[in-house]
Amino acid sequence: VAEKPRIRVGLVGAGSVARAHAHALLTLNHIGSLPARVEIVVVCSGSVDRARAFADEFGIPRWTTDWADVTADKTVDVVATLTPDAVHAGPSIEAAIAGKHVLCEKPLGRTASEAWRMVEAARTSGVVAATGFNYRFMPAIQLLRSFIDDGKLGQIRMFRGAYLQDWAASPDLEFSWRFDRTLGGGAVCDYVHIVDLLRFLGGEPIDVSSSLITSIDHRPTAEGPPRAVTNEDGYAAVLDMGWGIATLMASRCAVGCKGRQQIEVFGERGSCSWDMEDMNRLSVSLTDEAAGTDGFRSIHVTDSRFDLLGEWWGAGHSLGWEHALVHMWRAFLTQILEPSNPPTTLASFEDGWRAARITDAIKEAAHDRRPMPIDSPRAYIGATV
Ligand SMILES: NC(=O)c1ccc[n+]([C@@H]2O[C@H](COP(=O)([O-])OP(=O)(O)OC[C@H]3O[C@@H](n4cnc5c(N)ncnc54)[C@H](O)[C@@H]3O)[C@@H](O)[C@H]2O)c1
Repeated sequence: VAEKPRIRVGLVGAGSVARAHAHALLTLNHIGSLPARVEIVVVCSGSVDRARAFADEFGIPRWTTDWADVTADKTVDVVATLTPDAVHAGPSIEAAIAGKHVLCEKPLGRTASEAWRMVEAARTSGVVAATGFNYRFMPAIQLLRSFIDDGKLGQIRMFRGAYLQDWAASPDLEFSWRFDRTLGGGAVCDYVHIVDLLRFLGGEPIDVSSSLITSIDHRPTAEGPPRAVTNEDGYAAVLDMGWGIATLMASRCAVGCKGRQQIEVFGERGSCSWDMEDMNRLSVSLTDEAAGTDGFRSIHVTDSRFDLLGEWWGAGHSLGWEHALVHMWRAFLTQILEPSNPPTTLASFEDGWRAARITDAIKEAAHDRRPMPIDSPRAYIGATV
């Protein structure tokens, strides 16, 4: 039997999301029938202990504490940028310049202008460059998209996106990069997933009005006095979509919410509702149901005839959060290995930049207390960082 060719991945970042990416990459060697074998050949962390422990956990032959070792490594075909937001542009741009394909975690850049530099680097070198919008690859979201594309919901009138969590609800939680606006995005950028799903399902907004909130403005530190939180922990926005309106709301301090990412689409002939806390289900109501029996019914989206489910365990055997990362990596590596047949679901760097223009505009609208056009020069250039 002929051995499969290898595709070699270098990981920049060894934190919580890097573990999920490594898990997804290794899964692709037995699920997903890629025409190449995936190898993770090097991992980078800012901490020696963390880099070594991560390499041991996943059987990775080399580790480093300098991301330039990964982007310059001649044996690496693909770089995954999995670091805090402030360390997305540097490794991704260097990797693209070195001719390596790049998958970068969200948000692509801290601002649209930073994201645009990443788009340009990838375009100039012609590499495949993807943004880590993994929720596009949830089977229930795929089914929702197919309802819209097939016209089953009719013309869309309203969209509601929410991402509510409580991991930062306690004022005792220590300060970290996530509370510093120069290092991490705050709720608007951290939960950019709902901005991306709005674009993925409903297209481009025209303008936005919004408010931000920072309900816990100082956090304790291990080494000294409390530090000021310099980004928002929640926001609400109303967007003019041309076809109707959308609302977005996110918080990292919503007590009781674990992963309450909710997407609801209301059309002239039907509506759909999805909640990540019950991610295998899509609630659907269609007006062509018999009068008097209409209303929401819940589809358990696990049957292998649904998109993305053919390789898994069969109807009724629920998938988890990590499987969307497997699907995303399969689409990304397929685009590299079989470029003539690019997958349509994968978010490109340009998608990351378009989402960043919207997150810039959300912050600017809140700051100026007035509606902000998405394509205004300020939104393009980026007002922060
Ligand atoms: N798509 C998703 O669902 C999802 C989920 C969680 C996090 N994320 C994103 O992933 C990114 C990382 O988040 P996380 O939760 O894994 O963070 P984390 O703090 O757990 O891990 C960050 C990692 O980056 C390393 N690092 C930091 N600075 C570095 C530098 N200069 N050089 C090399 N390594 C460096 C750290 O050592 C650590 O290994 C963030 O941008 C976040 O928004 C995405």
